[in-house]
Amino acid sequence: MSQNSHPALEIRDLSVEFRASGNRALFKKPATFKALNGVSLDIQQGEVVGLIGESGSGKTTLGKAIVGLTETSTGSIHVKGQHTDPARASGRRALAQLVQMVFQDPYSSLHPRKTIGTTLSEPFLIQGTVSRDKLQSRVQSLLQRVGLSPDHAARYPQHFSGGQRQRIAIARAIANDPPVIIADEPVSALDVSVQAQILNLLDDLRTEQNMAMLFISHDLSVVRHLCQRVAVMYLGRIVEIGAAKEMTAGPAHPYTTALLSAAPRVKARNRAQAAPIVLSGDVPSHAAIPSGCPFHTRCWLYEQKGCPARCRTETPRLETLPSGRQSACFFPKEAAAPARPPAAACS
Ligand SMILES: Nc1ncnc2c1ncn2[C@@H]1O[C@H](COP(=O)(O)OP(=O)(O)O)[C@@H](O)[C@H]1O
Ligand code: SF4
Ligand SMILES: [Mg+2]
Repeated sequence: MSQNSHPALEIRDLSVEFRASGNRALFKKPATFKALNGVSLDIQQGEVVGLIGESGSGKTTLGKAIVGLTETSTGSIHVKGQHTDPARASGRRALAQLVQMVFQDPYSSLHPRKTIGTTLSEPFLIQGTVSRDKLQSRVQSLLQRVGLSPDHAARYPQHFSGGQRQRIAIARAIANDPPVIIADEPVSALDVSVQAQILNLLDDLRTEQNMAMLFISHDLSVVRHLCQRVAVMYLGRIVEIGAAKEMTAGPAHPYTTALLSAAPRVKARNRAQAAPIVLSGDVPSHAAIPSGCPFHTRCWLYEQKGCPARCRTETPRLETLPSGRQSACFFPKEAAAPARPPAAACS
């Protein structure tokens, strides 16, 4: 099979375990919790997939595992058909070359004592892709590609605004034309006035270079405009994947319905069709994930259905529906129906 016929990114059964904080008994194995549990996802070349979910659901952990910054306990990652094992140091080193990440905070992601020119030379020097005599001109053209002036190479990060710093972080990420970029909430630390410029830049670069991108965000209106597909994460599992426009028009999973219902701009558009759904309580701790369907302790559909035992005892798998949408719920069609307040609270 040629490299082009593979998805840019294929993730299979990825799990990450962290050591739980707190005291533990002497001589006992340290307690761990699963921050990611059996995540599988493909992203095609030139495709942007959005990743949404409440804070703490595992989005950054997935991003870091894909760029080799976090050790995994199970799973494999193929980048353009090339196999890597992120449980092994050699696999993580390979991923660090193949995939690049843009972080949320442009103030902490650039070294304060290095000039922009030095920071942007590093990817070329580390990967040995540009000779020293051509370094300066490559750094200057990289700055131009992200809408900055070549003169900026001589300056330090403190001379730049948040939006300009994020452009520099994006320039560093795309220096060696990686097939896959992870953008972890890249505009949420920026002024609203510059957010659209950075999103347009990411979209232009994706189109020009045919890059695949995982775009992590909690802003559904952004995801809807930038992403072709969306994956929804809850407690370290993907619970729904589908085309962005179809999903925002009618979710298949009750958690997605609740997220959309809580999003101000989407809520306004759908106000006539659906009563708002309030997600009760906080996300449960990863250290005490509920039995059966992990969402059952907060699920409006579970309550509306009269609290079926199956939701408490069996974990629904991510199944492909006739529409092509994937959902991990025993009643996926009903999540798309206009929501009514729950009939009765489940004990
Ligand atoms: N290095 C780490 N060690 C221990 N726990 C971590 C670590 N990184 C993240 N976590 C925990 O893993 C869970 C998922 O975190 P994260 O991936 O940052 O979520 P999100 O990006 O969706 O907000 C959280 O409970 C978080 O506290
Ligand atoms: S399986 Fe049951 S608890 Fe889980 S999302 Fe579906 S209805 Fe809710
Ligand atoms: Mg995060």
